[in-house]
Amino acid sequence: MSATHMKNSTARQNWTPGSWRSFPSRQVPTYPDPTAVEAVEERLRRYPPLVFAGEARRLKSHLAQAARGEAFVLQGGACAESFGEFTADIVRDTFRVLLQMAVVLTFGAKVPVIKLGRMAGQYAKPRSSDTETRDGVTLPSYRGDNINGAAFTAESRIPDPLRMETGYFQSAGTMNLLRAFASGGYANLHEVHRWNLGFVERSAMAQRYGQLAERIGETLDFMAACGLTTASTPQLDETEFYTSHEALLLGYEQAMTRVDSTSGEWYDCSAHFVWIGDRTRQPDGAHVEFLRGVRNPIGIKVGPTTSVEDIKRLTTILNPRNEAGRITLISRMGAEKIEQFLPPLMRAVKETGQPVTWISDPMHGNTISTGSKVKTRSFDAVMKEVKGFFAVCAAEGVPAGGVHLEMTGQNVTECVGGAQRLTEADLGDRYETFCDPRLNAEQSLELAFLIAEELTGRN
Ligand code: PEP
Ligand code: CO
Repeated sequence: MSATHMKNSTARQNWTPGSWRSFPSRQVPTYPDPTAVEAVEERLRRYPPLVFAGEARRLKSHLAQAARGEAFVLQGGACAESFGEFTADIVRDTFRVLLQMAVVLTFGAKVPVIKLGRMAGQYAKPRSSDTETRDGVTLPSYRGDNINGAAFTAESRIPDPLRMETGYFQSAGTMNLLRAFASGGYANLHEVHRWNLGFVERSAMAQRYGQLAERIGETLDFMAACGLTTASTPQLDETEFYTSHEALLLGYEQAMTRVDSTSGEWYDCSAHFVWIGDRTRQPDGAHVEFLRGVRNPIGIKVGPTTSVEDIKRLTTILNPRNEAGRITLISRMGAEKIEQFLPPLMRAVKETGQPVTWISDPMHGNTISTGSKVKTRSFDAVMKEVKGFFAVCAAEGVPAGGVHLEMTGQNVTECVGGAQRLTEADLGDRYETFCDPRLNAEQSLELAFLIAEELTGRN
């Protein structure tokens, strides 16, 4: 056993919210003034939690259902949220498309859909390079609004700890609005038609969705005639909506970590669900050490470079109690690789006896660069990976637990293809992402219909 390994095994006995600090960490920003960072973290430690432990536990029990094929996860939102785009409309539009997609998927899957936004805290981004060069000028890479600014100037790219505080308050504002939308009547199933408002209304998808809404309306009328109304069945009037982001900026996550007074256990109260990215999932690394000790449901991105050995170690370290719902493995292989790379990993996890939830991220293995160096994804490749995922799950006898998508409720032009037949030439029109290309509202809804067809075939 190597010295580091031994040190880590010893440290593993004594988890604290800050124990990750003595582990090797990747993707760490270099702040010019470490004392200023400590001061912000100290303030964050005293601020109210953004979520409650009981909510995270509830989500965990839903995810355990998805692991058994009794629920389906719809996780979606922007690659990176931005401080500049903090408006009620943007939050509402993404929320609304997720609701529409959930309705479509419920029809296909015939099981409850767990709605999990990449929202209210998705502000830190891992980067493949520490620097970015444009026209001969090299600057530190943009790492997400929680860390530095996207503008390509030396000043904007300096990591600023005050951004963590802005991130906290914007997460709180977003969360507040999401809670209001989820329980204040907007998500009432009787409103299913109204979610179709906006640009999607004029599209082919809107028509298809309108027909579905019609059927739901008739069903609700029938149920009302039988005495099942909003008054008698509160589930019709509201929905459960959960939040998630990548647990990348560990100083921030640590500051948001609190002991739950009910269970006496630690929860990262920055979001209901947090995940470890493909670049920071080293079994002996800081991110794994941090997430080991919080009791939230957590995700691990699983890519083509994940080894059988790694996945076994990761699931064992992160879920020593073999608790269902604790671990969601998010496969992001790429459309051409999934059928080859995923089966051995699924088998390895099966051997451990871990009750994990497998879901598909068909976005991150399918990013391509156009001739003009713009990052895009093709709708067909995304759908191909989803199909590949369903095929592998069926062959391995593992329930396909859900999907993880980068999408927005806005009418952006970032991914090519889909019913709108967006081409590379269209990308310049409304290319607004701060990081990876997202499906727009219509492409998202279209994908939901196609996934629903796959799920119907499965039933
Ligand atoms: C992401 O989800 O935005 C991301 C960076 O993914 P991955 O870690 O899978 O590359
Ligand atoms: Co991304």
